[in-house]
Amino acid sequence: MDSFAFIIHPIDPKRDVSRKFPLLGRLLNVQQINFLSTYFPPVYISQIDGLRSESTGKEVRGWFVACPLTPARMLELPEKTVYRKIVETGKLAERLGAQVLGLGAFTSVVGDAGVTIAQQLSIPVTTGDSYTVAIAVEAVRAAAQQMEIPLAGATAAVMGATGAVGAAAAELLAAEVGKLWLIGRRADALLALRDRLRATTSAEVEIATSEAKPSPLAEADLILTVTSALDTVIEPRHLRPGAVVCDVARPRDVSARVAAERDDVLVIDGGMVQVPGTGTAFNFNFGFPPDKVYACMAETMALALEGRFESFTLGRQITVAQVREIAAIAAKHGFKLSGFRSFERAVTAADLARVAERAHAARRARGQR
Ligand SMILES: NC(=O)c1ccc[n+]([C@@H]2O[C@H](COP(=O)([O-])OP(=O)(O)OC[C@H]3O[C@@H](n4cnc5c(N)ncnc54)[C@H](OP(=O)(O)O)[C@@H]3O)[C@@H](O)[C@H]2O)c1
Repeated sequence: MDSFAFIIHPIDPKRDVSRKFPLLGRLLNVQQINFLSTYFPPVYISQIDGLRSESTGKEVRGWFVACPLTPARMLELPEKTVYRKIVETGKLAERLGAQVLGLGAFTSVVGDAGVTIAQQLSIPVTTGDSYTVAIAVEAVRAAAQQMEIPLAGATAAVMGATGAVGAAAAELLAAEVGKLWLIGRRADALLALRDRLRATTSAEVEIATSEAKPSPLAEADLILTVTSALDTVIEPRHLRPGAVVCDVARPRDVSARVAAERDDVLVIDGGMVQVPGTGTAFNFNFGFPPDKVYACMAETMALALEGRFESFTLGRQITVAQVREIAAIAAKHGFKLSGFRSFERAVTAADLARVAERAHAARRARGQR
């Protein structure tokens, strides 16, 4: 049977370590987990059974394997040390028999986004970023429709626009919205992206660094946020009433205070995908409801179902053609955008109606449209 493996790692150190090692998760504090993660070996997590293509009926087997490093450790440690640990985890996947390996969360962010890691393994590697782009943009479109925000007249913003996911998502959004803000840290990279997008779309494209005051986020009807920041970068004060925010970043970019303080905005968890059928057993609780996975996991699974054992997405230059191709492969096998969730809770029709009503009231109070 064809097979895949996917590397996960602790994102919220205490919560995620507890999922596999309840006692360690209870006894150790975050600093201890961060420190000890450097010395911990790769961890076998579980076997994934019963994933079957809706169109071909082909079934594949998979494994979750964990790189013990937390995001904080991956940013602090020398790149070589981090690569070594991710490669060791990849070798565990090779020994299990995986034919393609997906890099989850920060294992695809570190260094050159998978290129060096792939060179040191004998199986193909994918970051999953191409399908993440496809699903993130589809989620923004769907949320805009739900909130009755016509795309063509909308102002959108991509936070983390110079990143692997951000740049390709910005390119797709620029073709659909009226105005697009590109926000990131490096002015030179933002300028280069702006010039490229201005040359190919009719949208008004503007740039700002994340420290800009006032933040252009306040102008945006639609925000796609996908930075590799360890701390949150979007706070309640940044958002206009009625704004839709799709948070693809893990760790999250949107502060939990937004959920607590702003009932007039819609924040959705980006990058969540429904797998084909209902027969997939993950044999590990990674915090999602049944039959739902991150888009980067779905890319790895879809490649295995398609028998495309190749390094589909590596590095930070993702093309629109790549995004369309993986979206078509995933759709063929039955993967689709999952229903909306916000801070890990399902968003109901009543929630959407309430946000729309509160946004309307807040705009009236501010004398806005
Ligand atoms: N949900 C999913 O399925 C899924 C899949 C893939 C990735 N992700 C998540 O998506 C995020 C980004 O991944 P990526 O591969 O696109 O990473 P990346 O290529 O490293 O890009 C990160 C972007 O974030 C920007 N950034 C970093 N810190 C920032 C800060 N404090 N304020 C503003 N911007 C900041 C970077 O700016 P500079 O370029 O100027 O440094 C860059 O534009 C990560 O959190 C990752 O875990 C999620």
